[in-house]
Amino acid sequence: AGPSSTSSWTRMPVNYGKGMHLAPMVRSGTMPTRLLALEAGAELVWSPETVDRALIGCERTVDPVTGVISYSKTHRPVFTMHPVERSRLIFQIGSSNAELAAEAAKMVYQDVAGIDLNCGCPKHFSVHAGMGAGLLQNPDNLCAILKSIRAAVPAEVPVSCKIRMLPSQDDTLALVRQIVDTGVISCLTVHCRTPPMRDRDAALIHRLRDIVDAVGSKVVVVENGDCTDCESAEKIRQATGVTAVMVARAAEANPTCFSADGPRDAETYVIPRYARLAKYLDHHWSNTKFCLMQLTSSSPALGKRSRAQWKAALATAKSYEELVLQWEKDINFLEGGAEILEDITQA
Ligand code: FNR
Repeated sequence: AGPSSTSSWTRMPVNYGKGMHLAPMVRSGTMPTRLLALEAGAELVWSPETVDRALIGCERTVDPVTGVISYSKTHRPVFTMHPVERSRLIFQIGSSNAELAAEAAKMVYQDVAGIDLNCGCPKHFSVHAGMGAGLLQNPDNLCAILKSIRAAVPAEVPVSCKIRMLPSQDDTLALVRQIVDTGVISCLTVHCRTPPMRDRDAALIHRLRDIVDAVGSKVVVVENGDCTDCESAEKIRQATGVTAVMVARAAEANPTCFSADGPRDAETYVIPRYARLAKYLDHHWSNTKFCLMQLTSSSPALGKRSRAQWKAALATAKSYEELVLQWEKDINFLEGGAEILEDITQA
């Protein structure tokens, strides 16, 4: 009984070109966030980047009670997912090596809908190792990695990549053409910032239409950058010609931002729902604490007093139970996770 956890499941075509997707986010885009995003209306969810070498050598285990699938090394989870999200989960790989990327993709494709290559991370550790935005400077290697992933997984598992724009539009168009001409990707996400740009800099959304036109119907182009809700998604569609958008920070602050009715209240809905679900799924406490802190820090729905109380309780809590004692003082606060998972299964 319990959720299906075998590797036999029916794959459906992956709908990259519709709706709003949850962006890959290290630490923030973990399993409970993804499940709440899907429940709220996200079409697809990206996993946080996992570097090829980190995944290779992991052991895959299935929790017989919750169905959670973990890829772990020396008992430390590297990637954790739930079968409920499998048909809409895109696994993002960080790589600068075609063989290692293929090996990582082969290990995990059975549990995900598609494989994505991170070609946009501007952080020193990535670029220095030739990964992330480092690949934008070496498009031949970028394309070789994509081809290698494509060859490693069955045809029904789509391959995609996520890039940033280059400072020059001509260079960006040339890069995009080279990537699309490999013929191996189904989707290209364009984060409308250049590698040196910070998140607080406004995304260069006005530059996307030319890219969408250049790609034509060969590959789905997904916009990323500064989309916060359904309303802004619609404006971006109108301005750029894309049909789908990807949301990062707004979803980190509130994973229900995908809802057509607008985001749900953080204090009364999102935070308790997150805590209950995460507790039921036995999601590691340190990550839960981090994600709850993001929800708490950036939720305008929280009153000043509540936010201060939440932060204080979170800062000192070393477990789910301690959080309850310091915050709600009512252990029922953590009950009902199994029912939430059931709701998500049916959503
Ligand atoms: C990111 N981003 C990111 N991108 C990526 O390709 N792989 C990753 O693992 C991460 N990790 C990550 C963590 C956190 C906490 C943030 C805020 C961002 C970048 C992200 O996917 C997205 O491209 C940018 O945040 C721009 O989108 P928004 O925030 O303007 O919607």
